[in-house]
Amino acid sequence: MQPSTGYASLVRVSKSPLVVRNGRIRSLLLGRSWSSVKVRDRTKTKIVGATPLVSGDSEAAGRAIREMFTSIAPRYDLLNHVLSFRVDWLWWRRAARCFRPILTAPASHALDLCCGTGDMTFALLRQATGSGVQILGVDFSHAMLARAQQKSAGTSLAWIEADALNLPFPDSQFELVTAAFGFRNLADYDASLCEILRVLKPEGECGILDFGQPHGVVGGVYRLYFRRVLPVIGTILSGVRGPYAYLPASVERFPPPAEMIECMRQCGFREASWTPYTFGIAGLYRGKK
Ligand SMILES: C[S@@+](CC[C@H](N)C(=O)[O-])C[C@H]1O[C@@H](n2cnc3c(N)ncnc32)[C@H](O)[C@@H]1O
Repeated sequence: MQPSTGYASLVRVSKSPLVVRNGRIRSLLLGRSWSSVKVRDRTKTKIVGATPLVSGDSEAAGRAIREMFTSIAPRYDLLNHVLSFRVDWLWWRRAARCFRPILTAPASHALDLCCGTGDMTFALLRQATGSGVQILGVDFSHAMLARAQQKSAGTSLAWIEADALNLPFPDSQFELVTAAFGFRNLADYDASLCEILRVLKPEGECGILDFGQPHGVVGGVYRLYFRRVLPVIGTILSGVRGPYAYLPASVERFPPPAEMIECMRQCGFREASWTPYTFGIAGLYRGKK
């Protein structure tokens, strides 16, 4: 299939992930505008994102998050599969299946934000078999994208190195935007929802897969595992102290479903919803532009 947009052809020909920071490839695109985006009154924002966990300033928070993921990139896939007992694979597949109608429509465009080493992006591609959909993965960690690119040799997937809070795309480009286990790490949830809304086409859909906090007995066991066991195994296997202590802390800080849904609505999403996966250990947020 021929790329139908300027940025797609730009990405397709690149042999290594593109470095796109501070909108440097913006001039090659159609330009951008915030006019179509309903920006929330920040004074009323309850959900602020990962920033306060790291520092008071969202740029410093972004840098810290990027360095953290870069430090674990070499072992990220192994750790993911071990620590989730391979259930992550089922979650990616289940989430991707929800968007099968979009992924099988001819010439649609999908964007997987915070794609890391690309497993959610691959799950999207598997649903899209034969449809000619263009799927882009975006992440701001070069090391994570380098692994995604290695894994995707011979596929139509393309990768862009960019910040999810400042995407190098014009307005209304994608029928689908997803993010798996990455949204929670963003410095400003409101701003990232607005950015997702901006790049979605009208009627386009958003799917955010992330951890939740199950209740009851399952919740108790899960918290014990997440707080006590996971950080120890994660530190041993990755050889890096910190990231796997950050993980449970970030999940505990992440807003509960009702609050996230309200945040999506206020940002301008329609039909915002949450579907729990595996007793609510994870769950999929959905919304439409
Ligand atoms: C937990 S990993 C998830 C990776 C993949 N989606 C998955 O399901 O395995 C989170 C990813 O989000 C990326 N990330 C965090 N904040 C980002 C931002 N502001 N812009 C782009 N990527 C970001 C990190 O670099 C990391 O690769």
